[in-house]
Amino acid sequence: MPAEIGTKLVSAKFGNEAAKTLAGYEKLGGYQVLRKALAMRPEDLVNEVKASNLRGRGGAGFATGVKWGFVPKDSPAVHLVCNADESEPGTCKDRELIYWDPHLLIEGMIISAHALRAVHNYIYIRGEMMREYAVLVRAVEEAYQRGYLGKNILGTGLECHLTVHRGAGAYICGEETALLNSLEGRRGQPRLKPPFPAIKGLFGEPTIVNNVETLMNVPIIIDKGAQWFAGLGVGRSGGTRMICVSGHVERPGVYELPIGVTFNQLINEVCGGVWKGRKVRAVIPGGTSMPPLSVDELDVPIEFDALMTDERIRPVEVRPGQLFDLGGGRQLRTMAGSGGVVVIDDHEDLVKAVWRIMKFYAHESCGQCTPCREGTGWLEKVCRRVANEQGKPDDLELLASIAHGIAGNTICALGEAAAWPMLGFLTKFRADFEAKIGKVRAA
Ligand SMILES: Cc1cc2nc3c(=O)[nH]c(=O)nc-3n(C[C@H](O)[C@H](O)[C@H](O)COP(=O)(O)O)c2cc1C
Ligand code: SF4
Repeated sequence: MPAEIGTKLVSAKFGNEAAKTLAGYEKLGGYQVLRKALAMRPEDLVNEVKASNLRGRGGAGFATGVKWGFVPKDSPAVHLVCNADESEPGTCKDRELIYWDPHLLIEGMIISAHALRAVHNYIYIRGEMMREYAVLVRAVEEAYQRGYLGKNILGTGLECHLTVHRGAGAYICGEETALLNSLEGRRGQPRLKPPFPAIKGLFGEPTIVNNVETLMNVPIIIDKGAQWFAGLGVGRSGGTRMICVSGHVERPGVYELPIGVTFNQLINEVCGGVWKGRKVRAVIPGGTSMPPLSVDELDVPIEFDALMTDERIRPVEVRPGQLFDLGGGRQLRTMAGSGGVVVIDDHEDLVKAVWRIMKFYAHESCGQCTPCREGTGWLEKVCRRVANEQGKPDDLELLASIAHGIAGNTICALGEAAAWPMLGFLTKFRADFEAKIGKVRAA
């Protein structure tokens, strides 16, 4: 299967420098859908997005139209915030999307803002994305000049404003409530939920936070119709998916692919196989916060529901034989997350790789709640000594119990982001950890 497979929606203009300007974008039909959308009633737009099966591309895969429906109808002020903080290791699609097609994001935001009756709206962009920030600010200025943004847009009497705000390099500011605190000028720390942002968000007012890719799909849905968009996908997941592939493949990159593609197809047919003629050992399916897949679990589609429920994926254990329970009888397998696929070959020291992941989350914990602040540090410390063959006989039990103490006991999901991969690697690659401990015993 070549990388060109399938319909390109949000990446259709990749490589086309001219499309980044307003004139170039308009020449390709840009902002025509906006005229259609502004003539529609907000509730009809929400229903169209619901029917399209669009699911959030930021990580959790929550149904976008359903989330929009939570905003109270009578609220005097609503905000739409685009989450462009993209910091999950392995994920690098939003930066490409913004760079190549900034006006598609702006058009998607204006349409979505109309659906939500939101007037003052924001794009929160990761601070390190200097190049994308410049492209975006220029595009927003152009949209204001042409009357797509501002007061009385396109003579409809509607008002829509867009402010681009740069973050300062904290991973936690990608978590939506930390992002809102940061946008308000406070410390970027997550808020307790409920209340959810759709009820009480930015400045205490109802706010919808959506990922870049999510919002860029909205004009396409309104243009082509919800049924068409839903039909491109699989089950309850409509459209396509941006997949970022890094690690040990011949052709790493950012690919827009049909949702039914499996990991084996991705690695072998899209990315040219594992590099240097080696074999795949493990795959991180959706950013480093997701439990890994082993080599016999790769014939599964890269799709939200499949990755959570497919019987071919082994559930994650807390301790040998004891499965990780998500509640409601559901066992944790893995998740599609942010679309960041990391392929690991059979020459890699997996325990060292896990230590590196733990180091990241320990560094990025905001320190607000004890299980995460202390637990991520302990995971890093214990994992480091195991990786360096200085572990103690009980260390694997200790790692499992620390991870179990974090998951489900914190304010935000950064806790799980550290605990789940730890438990997942311990479950599926236990022998690698035991070999490190074994070397200590033998010494
Ligand atoms: C620690 C943490 C970091 C996150 N980072 C991002 C991010 O960089 N970009 C993003 O879109 N969502 C991120 N999320 C998810 C957001 O909280 C939120 O669910 C998402 O922006 C909603 O958009 P969607 O519904 O379009 O997916 C993160 C979540 C957590 C817990
Ligand atoms: S889980 Fe971690 S990152 Fe999230 S609020 Fe608690 S301490 Fe902060």
